[in-house]
Order: sequence, then structure tokens, then C-alpha cells
Amino acid sequence: MPTTLITGANRGIGLALAREFTSRGHDVIATARDPGAADELKETGASVYRLDVAKADEIATLAAELQGQPIDVLLNNAGITGGRQPVGETDFDSFLETLVVNTIAPVRMLEAFTANVAAGELKRIVVITSQLGSIANADASWGMIYRTSKAAVNMAYRTAAVALAEKGITCLALHPGHVETDMGGAGAPVKPAESAKGLAGVILDTTPAGELRFLDYRGKTLPW
Ligand SMILES: NC(=O)c1ccc[n+]([C@@H]2O[C@H](COP(=O)([O-])OP(=O)(O)OC[C@H]3O[C@@H](n4cnc5c(N)ncnc54)[C@H](OP(=O)(O)O)[C@@H]3O)[C@@H](O)[C@H]2O)c1
Repeated sequence: MPTTLITGANRGIGLALAREFTSRGHDVIATARDPGAADELKETGASVYRLDVAKADEIATLAAELQGQPIDVLLNNAGITGGRQPVGETDFDSFLETLVVNTIAPVRMLEAFTANVAAGELKRIVVITSQLGSIANADASWGMIYRTSKAAVNMAYRTAAVALAEKGITCLALHPGHVETDMGGAGAPVKPAESAKGLAGVILDTTPAGELRFLDYRGKTLPW
């Protein structure tokens, strides 16, 4: 049975991904900052572990606990927005925190779990990024912090993908759609379950490649 590790799985897209991968027969290792408050996640049948991705020691502890366990899909989903301050009023503490969570943590996870993924069958490392991280498509002045954090993680993963290809690992940067979650808002057009179903299909069906691809939840290629 394949194993999939998902971060930030207690709500939103992460919870929907936990439901989707368990329904596809995967053993899901799901992480949450507060497992005690993750009842819906536990109902999916996933094994729930504590992880604040901003804390290097917690990533190291989880990696030590899971040492030697093959992981087929490492799915970095946890993310924050950093707020929508206009240029000129940037909250730099928020900027830094957002870079830690959205950019540095997925790289720390990739490095901490490379051996586990190399030992798995499917060998996929995924970051849930955003179309707002596309530099080519950037056409608005709001969301500088979030856009920067996602463009940066795209570049980090594009670099890492080349190195990991030597171990047979395929990296993917995936946009989940504009999804109805706490982050996406009540009026968002895509339901979490629809996004998760599409993402799982892209993750499991995309042919392995030596370079990072930037795709949406329907498999459409997005411009860098
Ligand atoms: N919704 C959209 O329209 C949309 C569009 C493009 C990309 N995305 C991306 O999709 C991913 C999921 O977004 P979402 O819409 O599901 O957001 P969400 O509903 O706000 O959920 C965010 C998840 O990330 C977790 N998280 C935040 N900071 C964390 C940290 N330091 N350590 C561990 N977990 C942390 C949250 O845990 P807590 O409950 O503990 O806070 C929660 O489980 C994010 O990477 C986001 O950038 C979303």
C-alpha cells in the first residue's frame, strides 16, 4: 500500500487531500500543529502526527520517528497568506514568517524526507504552490508577500528537482485552483474535494520527469 505524507492536513485542502488519498487506498501520514483538535482528520483513518512546519526541531523529530519508512508521496500543503497589505505598508514580520512557512519549510521537508521518498515506489515530492507565484502572470499590486513566497518556493523546487532526479524522484509544483477554504474564501469556485481529486490525479498520473513542472489541479501547465 503506498504511503503519502501531507502537511497542514487538519483543515482546508490538506484535509480534503487526506480524505482523497485514504479513499485511494494510501496509508496517509497527516500532520497538524494541534493533533488534539484534529478530529475530522482522525476520522479519515490517517495517522496523525504533530508538526509545525516553521519549527526545524519538529521537522527533525518527525523525520527521526519515520526514519527507514518508505514514503511514496511527500505533499507539502501547509501555507499562510501573509496578509494583503498594500505596497508601502508591508508587515515585515509577516513577510518573514510567510517565507519560513511557504518557502523554507517545504525545502526543509524535502531535505529531511528525501531518503524516505527514494525508498518509496512512486517517488513524488510535491509542493502546493499558487498561480499567484507566477511572475509571468503577476498583474496586480496586492499580495506581494504571498506571491513572493510562492515564486521563491517554485524556484527552490526547480533547483532541487534537478538534484533529486538523480535519485529517481519527481518533483511537482501544483496550483490547487481557487478553493473554498479559510484561505480561499467562501465564494471560491472550487470545492476542496474537487481540488483534492484533481491534485491526486495529477500527482499519481503525471509521467516522471527530471525537471520541475508547474501545473494546476487539472494538469494544465502554468507559466513561470
Ligand atoms: N485556497 C486557495 O484558493 C489556494 C489557492 C492557491 C494555493 N493555495 C495553497 O494551498 C495550501 C492549502 O491552503 P488552504 O486553502 O487549505 O488554506 P487554509 O484553509 O488556511 O489551511 C491552511 C493549513 O495550513 C496549516 N498551517 C499554517 N501554518 C502552518 C505551520 N506553521 N505549520 C503547519 N501547518 C500550518 C494550517 O494549520 P492550522 O489549522 O494549525 O492553522 C491549515 O491546516 C496552501 O499552501 C495555500 O497557499 C490555496
